This record gives sequence, structure tokens and C-alpha cells, in this order.
Amino acid sequence: MKTVIVTGGAGFIGSAVVRHLVEETSLRVVNVDVLTYAANLDSLGAARRSPRHVFERVDVCDRDELERVFREHRPAAVLHLAAQTHVDRSIEDPGVFVATNVGGTLNVLEASRRHWNRLDAEGRRRFRLLHVSTDEVYGDLGADKPAAAEGAPYAPSSPYAASKAAADHLVRAWSRTFDLPIVIAACCNNYGPCQYPEKLIPLVVLNAVEEKPLPLYGTGENVRDWLYVEDHARALRMLLECGEPGRTYHVAAHEERTNLDVVGAICTLLDEMAPRAAGRYAELIRFVADRPGHDFRYGLDDSRLRDELGWRPRETFESGLRKTVRWYLDHPDWVQAVRTAEYRRWMAAQYRDGEAQA
Ligand code: TYD
Repeated sequence: MKTVIVTGGAGFIGSAVVRHLVEETSLRVVNVDVLTYAANLDSLGAARRSPRHVFERVDVCDRDELERVFREHRPAAVLHLAAQTHVDRSIEDPGVFVATNVGGTLNVLEASRRHWNRLDAEGRRRFRLLHVSTDEVYGDLGADKPAAAEGAPYAPSSPYAASKAAADHLVRAWSRTFDLPIVIAACCNNYGPCQYPEKLIPLVVLNAVEEKPLPLYGTGENVRDWLYVEDHARALRMLLECGEPGRTYHVAAHEERTNLDVVGAICTLLDEMAPRAAGRYAELIRFVADRPGHDFRYGLDDSRLRDELGWRPRETFESGLRKTVRWYLDHPDWVQAVRTAEYRRWMAAQYRDGEAQA
């Protein structure tokens, strides 16, 4: 049985990837996660108890432990998703983003390289390190710039985006210098079940049902492209199997929406699924101080993935958002479990008096 390592497999996108690989393939999945505030093993559902799922509580920043995991499990491939991902937190505390996203990626690269050197010729030829990146590395496209193609110049704006850009550069250097067979996947904004409620969509769903303000930064006109997380997981599996070593692939939804449109759509769904005693949810929207350096828009040209590999998302924004809102309403236990002291600290610091404090 072939083994793959998934780093960050208890996070939002990582847990969707682990669920997909356990349910849809015969791979043995070694889930490497340190369980930060944003991770939760409950997000794995039935996959958690599968005999083909092995959990290793290991920090990618811990080089020795990571090397041990590679020696013990001898992976045929690695999917690297472990990262700090929230832009607002990267403004509050950039250091942890550099440590995890840059230092952690260096450790994954070095552990992969040492492991790869120990493989036989066939194992080396088949090995892949699939590194998961973000549209944010290309920086702000403003209102009119065309979507970024693979190879467009990097221009990250936030400490988060800069740390992911730095990690991507390391991954490409390991490909060119050491011939390590890497593939990079860069994706647009994800949403869906099990996303930590500091990000826009789950934050708005949960604030709304508790009759709390729905904070929109600035004028609410910033644009993001929104992909349902399970479509991302399918794209990553396809890249694991068919991605050409040394190449980057973009994953996009072509579902661009302003933040105001996104929040409006959530409010409309909640008006239908869980009506307020009086009034409509949109009345809870508040415009708050903007995020410093807030990128207006991101966009990825994903024709390589669509034309060469035939990938298509299954969900539209409307169908995916409906599933997502329903999921948060139906999973109060999951929500309760992630609302830790750290969650309350973050919410109080970031949204004091209904004003974003960034
Ligand atoms: P977010 O979910 O943090 O993802 P990213 O910044 O990586 O795109 O934010 C999505 C958009 O929503 C972004 O333009 C910032 C905005 N936003 C708000 O308006 N209010 C909020 O409370 C949050 C968390 C985000």
C-alpha cells in the first residue's frame, strides 16, 4: 500500500484533502499536524478512524521529528499544506508566519530531499512533493488587471502573502538545484465546512445567528474568487497524479464576488434557513476600519489545469454556499469546540466595539 504524507491535515483545506484521499483512493495517509488553534481532528469525520489514516502530532518547524516521520513512513508523495493562513493575524504577529510558512517549508523540503535520495531509481522518478500556495503571492490586481498566469511576477502585500511567496521560491530552488520533483498548486479563496470562523464566510454565518454585527472592512467592494474546498481537494489529487514535476498550476473558481455580495448572499440564505424573530440579517452589516494594505482583488488564470488536465469545479458559488451555511447551522458541536479561549481573545482584539482594530 502506498503512503502519502499530508502536512496540515487537521486544518481546513488539509482535512478536506485527507477526507478525499481516504474516501476516494486506496492510499495510506499520514497526517502531520501540530494542532494549532485552527486545527481540529473532528474535521476529519469518519476518515479519522480509518485504518489507512495515521495521525502524527508533529510541528513542521521541528526538523528532527519531521525527519523521523519520513524515515518511519517512507512516503511515495508529500502534500504540504501546513501553514499559518489568516492575513489579519499576520499583521498582528508576522514572526510566526515566517517561522511556520518559510521555516516549516524549508524543513519539509530538506526531509523530502533526504528521503528522496534514499529511494531507488523508480521511487525517485515517481516521488512528488505537492506544495500548496495561494493567489495572494501575485499581490493586488486592482479592478482591471487580467488574471495572473503561472510565471507572473510575485508582488505579495501582507506578511502572510510574503511568507507564502518566500516558501514558493524555496520550493522552486529545490527543484532546479536538487532536481526534487515538486509541483506547486496556487489557489483562490476557499470556503466550505470546517473553516475556522476567523475567515469571512464562517465568521459572518456565526455572527449572524448570534445577532452580532457583520463586519465588512472598508467599503465592502474588495473582490475575491471563491472555490468550494472539496473542489480544491479534487484538484490537488489530480495534480498529485498528473502534475508535471517543476511546474506550477493555478486553481480558480471563476466565481468572483465583492465582499458585500458574499455577505448579502449569506444573509439571504439565513433569512430562508433560520429567520430572525424580526427583520432581516442584512440589517446586521457594519462597515468597519479597513485592513492595512488590503488587496482589492486577486485572480488566477487556471487554463493550464482546465485545458491540460480537464479539471472543473463541481460546485457553483450558490450551491457551495448553500451547503456551507447549512453545515454551520447543523454542526453546533464543531463550532463550540473551536470557540476556545484563543478564539475569544482574537475576536475581542480584532473587533473591539464593532470596529476592526487592524
Ligand atoms: P478572509 O476570509 O480573511 O480571506 P483573505 O483575506 O485571505 O482573502 O477575507 C476575505 C475578504 O473579506 C477580504 O477582502 C477581507 C474581508 N473581510 C471583511 O470584510 N471582514 C472580516 O471580518 C474579515 C475576516 C474579512
